[in-house]
Amino acid sequence: MAEGKKRVFSGVQPSGALHIGNYFGALKQWVEMSQEDDCIFCVVDYHALTTVKDPAALRQNILDTTKTLLAIGIDPSNSIIFKQSDVSEHTELAWMLETLVTVKFLELAHAYKDKVAKGLEANAGLFNYPMLMAADILLYDTDIVPVGADQRQHVEYAREAANKFNLAYGQTLKEPQEKIRDEVAVVPGTDGQKMSKSYKNTIPLFGSEEDTLKAIMSIVTDSSGERPAHVYAIHKLFKSEEELAPLYEANKGSYKILKEALAADINAYLAPMRAKYAALTDDDVKKALAQGAAKAKAIASKKMEEVRQNIGVSL
Ligand code: AMP
Ligand code: TRP
Repeated sequence: MAEGKKRVFSGVQPSGALHIGNYFGALKQWVEMSQEDDCIFCVVDYHALTTVKDPAALRQNILDTTKTLLAIGIDPSNSIIFKQSDVSEHTELAWMLETLVTVKFLELAHAYKDKVAKGLEANAGLFNYPMLMAADILLYDTDIVPVGADQRQHVEYAREAANKFNLAYGQTLKEPQEKIRDEVAVVPGTDGQKMSKSYKNTIPLFGSEEDTLKAIMSIVTDSSGERPAHVYAIHKLFKSEEELAPLYEANKGSYKILKEALAADINAYLAPMRAKYAALTDDDVKKALAQGAAKAKAIASKKMEEVRQNIGVSL
């Protein structure tokens, strides 16, 4: 790692099309940080396995998610982009961490409770999810984990797991810090709730211009204030409040005009990324992932040698 640079690690599940909530909540800061820091970005396919059971869909999602990272501007020549299943040290360290935390502790995870409340099967992988995520982070001596607000507790869990390990076996794993952008911690969806695949309220990053327009037209408008709050909340991500003021002043109550303006602004903003996405081939993606896996493996395997030594399985 270059001297003085921070190690940044983050992950995204290949579990469906990414949306503007993912972009403004997390991915945009990945791009910005990748220009300054020592960044590692992981497509966490084993995490996705807790919910995606269709091999063809998983394969396609891995390709699409990686393509997304390349298209938004992460450059594999100065950041590491790889998929989790290519570096088996992740599941290996996860096991060790699982032996250090209690079932009670894992039962307190909000993400687990929310997923089960939404009707997802409470499989043991879903339950242990935070320790696999902790392993992802801890293998690389990570300083900073840029994520959306919903992942704050998971990073706390990684810190706690590192602390437990160090207490048991001596200083081995670095305790990471989360980085959450307050102003876009939760991007609202077309219904005003948190934008999320599972709420069907998303605006896709890489859909067509028609897809954007269709999603925007479906925004639930509330007529309580002077301007449609949900439309404005999304519009603010693409233009400054000063730029938007005259538009919203001139079109009070004209929701259709405001929505069309929003769709046009989104499409203009995303056009260069969409063009880049369309130009990327599956081979480009596979090449980037292979290159990233080799670099990640080199770091992770070194860390695991130290871990195995410290826990007493290396003779
Ligand atoms: P996921 O699709 O759940 O793997 O999320 C990938 C990243 O996007 C995580 O860092 C999330 O915190 C972030 N994220 C997802 N939905 C939103 C949202 N509506 N607002 C802000 N960040 C989000
Ligand atoms: N749990 C994260 C999410 O759903 C994805 C993730 C897995 C992750 N491992 C990670 C994020 C490590 C940051 C660091 O968004």
